[in-house]
Amino acid sequence: MPSDNPTFPTGAEDIGTPQHYAADLLKGKVAFITGGATGIGFGIARHYVRLGAKVAIASRKQANLDQAVKLLAEEGGVAVALRTDVRNYDEVRNSIGECVKHFGALDILVNNAAGNFACPTAKLTPNGWRTVVDIDLNGTFYCCHAAYEALKQSAGGGCIISIGATQGFAGWPNQAHAAAAKAGITSLMRTLAVEWAPDNIRVNTIMPGPIAGTEGVRRLYEQKGLAEVQRRRVALGRFGSIEDIANAAAYLASPLAIYMTGADFIVDGGRWLNYVAV
Ligand code: NAP
Ligand code: COA
Repeated sequence: MPSDNPTFPTGAEDIGTPQHYAADLLKGKVAFITGGATGIGFGIARHYVRLGAKVAIASRKQANLDQAVKLLAEEGGVAVALRTDVRNYDEVRNSIGECVKHFGALDILVNNAAGNFACPTAKLTPNGWRTVVDIDLNGTFYCCHAAYEALKQSAGGGCIISIGATQGFAGWPNQAHAAAAKAGITSLMRTLAVEWAPDNIRVNTIMPGPIAGTEGVRRLYEQKGLAEVQRRRVALGRFGSIEDIANAAAYLASPLAIYMTGADFIVDGGRWLNYVAV
């Protein structure tokens, strides 16, 4: 049923320091976060340093990386930027090696980097398809593969979190490339959850709904005048906030989630269950 609850927060607010987790929840942990300089990835990096982790953020644009490290340092966080194109396995392997060299360990890998654009499938070029699958799915595989040995050595057990999307289950008209890539990520995470459980590596997927103030929402909904239609599809009546996703990522990376592996953590205000409503 369509939801219409304008009294809910918009989701764009920064809720500040997490109120409900112990301040040292992730103390001593080292995280490698792809796409960690912007949007949801930066929100996760900021939450992690606020909870005591050290973070390496990896993406292509040096200016964004530098700005993000500066913001994290202003909060007292320990962060390094590692310029990386996740489509290039050698770059991924080098950056993960640099992270381990710099911090002495790797405990948490967050596969957040992604690319997407709306395009009817009949008009999508093979290179357009390949580009998104390369970033989202192949990039996720490269990072998992390159991080495996270090995660295996993690004192408290390794943790992989990948950012998926429920459209990987449901299909996604005009985003066939991204839907297929996200479906592939879900499958890969479930497989690794079983394969790597004996190595004490937990592997989970977070599936966000539309998250306010992000590039994803800007290019897929706002630019096309679809933001209000999307908002009404969310059962809870609002877009999510970056902190909603960062809280889920903090939980999954923490000892609180010690028995969680192979899970699809859907954090979408009930949107995907409301599929038939509009
Ligand atoms: P965003 O700010 O554009 O984040 C994507 C990040 O990925 C950017 O920092 C980008 O940095 C990086 N990236 C892109 N291509 C890369 C490459 N080849 N190598 C390394 N890094 C690369 O968008 P967002 O909305 O926060 O999305 C973050 C994640 O959430 C994505 O996985 C997205 O699919 C997922 N998600 C978002 C929503 C939403 O409502 N926003 C909903 C569901 C799922 P550079 O360009 O500098 O490389
Ligand atoms: N519609 C149709 N095709 C498009 C397109 C669009 N809006 N944007 C890019 N493409 C096609 C290009 O035409 C090209 O195919 P071609 O060589 O056959 O013409 C192919 O995709 C690659 O484009 P290019 O711009 O060279 O890729 P890139 O590697 O520089 O950038 C993208 C990757 C396209 C995914 C870019 O949008 C990006 O960097 N996104 C990261 C941020 C993001 O998407 N955030 C939201 C996450 S949900």
